[in-house]
This record gives sequence, C-alpha cells and structure tokens, in this order.
Amino acid sequence: MDVNRATAAAVIRMENLSKHYPVRQNVRQWLSREHRVVRAVDDLSLTVKRGEILGLAGESGSGKTTTGEMIVRLQEPTSGSISVDGHPLDAASRTDRKRFRREVQMIFQDPYETLNPRFTVYQTVAESLRIHGFRDRGEIARRVLECLEIAELKPATEYLHRFPHELSGGQRQRVAIARAMVLEPKVLIADEPVSMLDVSIRADILNLLKRLRERMGLTMIYISHDLATIKYLCDRIAVMYLGKLVELGPADAVIGQPQHPYTRVLVASVPVADPDYARADIDVDDAPPDQIDLPPGCRFAPRCPYAREACNACDHRLHERRPDQFSACLFTADQWQPR
Ligand SMILES: Nc1ncnc2c1ncn2[C@@H]1O[C@H](COP(=O)(O)OP(=O)(O)OP(=O)(O)O)[C@@H](O)[C@H]1O
Ligand SMILES: [Mg+2]
Repeated sequence: MDVNRATAAAVIRMENLSKHYPVRQNVRQWLSREHRVVRAVDDLSLTVKRGEILGLAGESGSGKTTTGEMIVRLQEPTSGSISVDGHPLDAASRTDRKRFRREVQMIFQDPYETLNPRFTVYQTVAESLRIHGFRDRGEIARRVLECLEIAELKPATEYLHRFPHELSGGQRQRVAIARAMVLEPKVLIADEPVSMLDVSIRADILNLLKRLRERMGLTMIYISHDLATIKYLCDRIAVMYLGKLVELGPADAVIGQPQHPYTRVLVASVPVADPDYARADIDVDDAPPDQIDLPPGCRFAPRCPYAREACNACDHRLHERRPDQFSACLFTADQWQPR
C-alpha cells in the first residue's frame, strides 16, 4: 500500500528506516560481548509533504526521538534511507552535508540544556551563522535581530545581551527557535518543545510554530506524547508503538476514528471533554512493554484487548482503512471484539 502519495511534494522521505541499539543486560553478556538489541525504530517508511506539520505520537520508548535524531543526523541509521528535498543523505558529499546541516534543524524539550549558559542571546544565535561561514558582522547582526523578532522576542534589542538564566522557559525556547530559524531551514524537527513549559505559554509557542510554517514555508515534524497539542498543530499524525508505525492519517480522522487499537487507547486516555475525541471503553495493562523480547507478529498484541491468534502473524503492513488513513492492524475497527 502506498502510504506516501503525492511523492513529488515530499520534503522528508524515510524508507525502511531502522535504528537498533545494542544492549547488554547482565555481567555475563558484558563479558561475552554478546548483546541483544532494542529496535528503537524498525523499518519505518514515511514521507512529509512540503509545508506539512506531521505529528509523531506514541508513548515513552516508542522511537519518536530516535526518528527525529536520525533525520538531523544526530544518530546514524542502522539501515534504510532518508532524503530531504530529493537529496539522499547517505550519498551526501561534504558540501551536501554542510548544506543539509543548515536545511534541517531540531529543537528540544529542554531549551536550558541546549543553550550555552555562558553565551548571551546574541552570541547563541550568531554562533550558528558563524559555524556556517558568515563573516560580515553587519549581516550577522541584521540576521540575528530579524530572527529574534520572528521568534517574537520583541523588541529584540532588549534580549540581545541576556544570558539563558535571565530568561523564562518560554523565552529560552524562543531563543532556541531563533537559533534554528537563522539558518533559514527547510525542515524543523520539534521534539516535545512545549512539554516542559508552563501550560499558560504552551499555546503561544504552538502558535509561533504555526506562524513559522506560514512565514518560512517550513516542513515540520512535531514529536509529542500529547495528542491535544498534536491535534491543535498538526495536519497528519503518525502513531508509533515500540519502533513500528501503527497508524497514519489526517489528524482529525486519527483522533476521531482511530483505526488501530493502540491509537484508540491513546485517544481514550486524553483527559479532555472534547467530542472530537473518539471515546471508547478500552483499557490496557499499564505495564510498560518489554523493549527487547518482542512478541512475534503485532507488537501491541500482548496488551491489546482485541488480540486474536492471527495477530501473531501480523507483519505491520499498513492497510488503508479510510481515505488516506492507514493502520497496521489486521482487522477493521468493526471487526474488533473484546477477548
Ligand atoms: N543511545 C541509546 N542507546 C540505547 N538505547 C537507546 C538509546 N536511545 C534510545 N534508546 C532506546 O530506544 C528506544 C526508543 O527511544 P526514544 O528516545 O526514541 O523514544 P521516545 O519515543 O522518544 O520516548 P520518550 O517519549 O520517552 O521521549 C527506547 O527503548 C530507548 O531506551
Ligand atoms: Mg523522546
């Protein structure tokens, strides 16, 4: 099934992407150098269209950050390929890699950790430009001011000489956004960018991200546990479970009519009184899944209230269940029967 229609417009394309981390669980394994692997991301194929905001959802350990880090090349994939705007990364020459480092930027959950405490706001944003070969001081100053304004730190001149500890959490995230934007990237990966912020300022940052998409024509992957913010911001949602893509579709459809039991559980656990969220009597064992000894077939089956014998042979292939909405479940929602 082609889940990646409109391929011409694809800016990010991941094909059969995997990242497996070796783990040694006990002394014997350390001594014998024998190891098992965590399949953090397993055979993921996904595209993001130009100007689209794709939400990456899933509980802790599902492989969301690893996916984002492979796109920005903080992690090397174990196998598979990624291309950005038609350029495959693996084949990239040195100049291509440099260009790529400008074009794809990432912001993180904790801006405090990613900002150098000894750098002022000006130095922080200017550093990105210097690394990429900008030398003209007037040009650097102009770009830094412009980006601080774009990140809505206004008036920018008031922030230039402040250090991270002199800023609020929201302001620090805006500095991180300005630092990413100063290189005029095509792609922004935002990994839980609001989850450490005060609830009152989350919407401001989400609105800023929306405006950036419009103003800079950005293509974005927004990673979060929080379906409410994903629904607010994203056009489509990709749901991951233990490294596998289990559902993909338009945000409203995935939240309103989930086609995978795992998505149904995620949606039903959102504590909001919003009729757009599919409500269901669905309950799963809260025990975190085993990341290493994966079951044969569907990885969600051990926790799935609808699992049957056939699920042991599920290969996570995506089936189109509604227009543009794909699920890795072998069954349609009306076939789901409690065990
Ligand atoms: N550097 C690493 N070495 C070994 N295992 C790792 C490493 N990074 C991640 N993992 C494992 O890979 C799996 C996926 O991790 P990842 O951080 O991508 O999940 P996530 O979906 O971002 O989770 P969270 O919502 O908690 O941020 C986890 O089991 C994690 O323990
Ligand atoms: Mg993460």
